[in-house]
Amino acid sequence: MTAVKAYNQSSENALEVRDLRKIYKGKGKVPDKEALKGISLSVPRGSFFGLLGPNGAGKSTLINILAGLVNKTSGTASVCGYDINKDMRLARRALGVVPQELNLDAFFSAREVMEFQAGLYGVPKSQRRTSEILEAMGLSDKADSYARTLSGGMRRRLLVAKAMVHQPDVLILDEPTAGVDIELRQQLWGYIRKLNEAGTTIILTTHYLEEAEELCDEIAIINHGEVVACEPTDKLLSKLDAKSITIVLDQDIEHIPDSLHVFNPALSQGHRLTIQYKPSEADIGSILSRISESGLSIKDLTTEEPDLEDAFLQMTSSKTQNR
Ligand SMILES: Nc1ncnc2c1ncn2[C@@H]1O[C@H](COP(=O)(O)OP(=O)(O)OP(=O)(O)O)[C@@H](O)[C@H]1O
Ligand SMILES: [Mg+2]
Repeated sequence: MTAVKAYNQSSENALEVRDLRKIYKGKGKVPDKEALKGISLSVPRGSFFGLLGPNGAGKSTLINILAGLVNKTSGTASVCGYDINKDMRLARRALGVVPQELNLDAFFSAREVMEFQAGLYGVPKSQRRTSEILEAMGLSDKADSYARTLSGGMRRRLLVAKAMVHQPDVLILDEPTAGVDIELRQQLWGYIRKLNEAGTTIILTTHYLEEAEELCDEIAIINHGEVVACEPTDKLLSKLDAKSITIVLDQDIEHIPDSLHVFNPALSQGHRLTIQYKPSEADIGSILSRISESGLSIKDLTTEEPDLEDAFLQMTSSKTQNR
């Protein structure tokens, strides 16, 4: 492989997956497992795409098929327009994958891991950015340490560094921040954001939903081998149509006034009223004026928007068996 950029200009999508299926064959008493039940996904070039789902949903299976680590049962997948089977070399060159498994050669130093990978992808010495990438991943002072002497979080960051040596157009990160501390996580995301701004398509899986909500412009949720949602993040959230408002009254009350029962409020601590409402059906203004009309005085109020965690739970909690 060479480090020359592999663009297939005819493809607008960084990733195109059609009806992808994977059945892991069982053995003895272990039955077959259908991990992917016909997944279709399109990831536009340049996007920051989140692939979310509970444990066992099939995320890593999908990623490992793209990376050539797992054989698909049927369906097609292409990276930047290159079919992963028919144009395997070009597809591989366009793709960098950070696997979930910490599979590093224990007897290589961090720098050697990077240089070996660069050699594998044919990156000329003059174009290698080993030190720059190691620094961005907070690993400069570990450059000459053996991989086996690195901590779990450091190994994960080295895997991220390794996936970037050939400057792939599409970078897939399978749980890149599991076990990475908060400060270095921020540093890692800062660097990945910059890569994205410079045009690299980022696809990531994470169980830190706040991270996905903050970073991803589009999100797919996978459950039991099926895509159950795939939308721009803000659209996914706005669809939930559920907000809540908590009103702090200036004094305790014993009963909720009859005129407020229509909102089905919950009274706590004697002076806090919490109301769940659907923005499509009611607005805050009408709720507040109804409270004032009932003779209550408002001291303070807070509102809560639905977040990605609410969306995730709503779309995945109905079927939690067979993990
Ligand atoms: N090599 C394998 N052989 C048999 N079954 C497998 C294999 N790898 C994964 N599976 C099964 O396929 C299903 C999907 O697993 P996968 O690792 O893709 O899930 P995931 O979404 O990545 O989960 P997690 O969030 O825990 O990483 C699971 O039921 C898992 O047990
Ligand atoms: Mg996984």
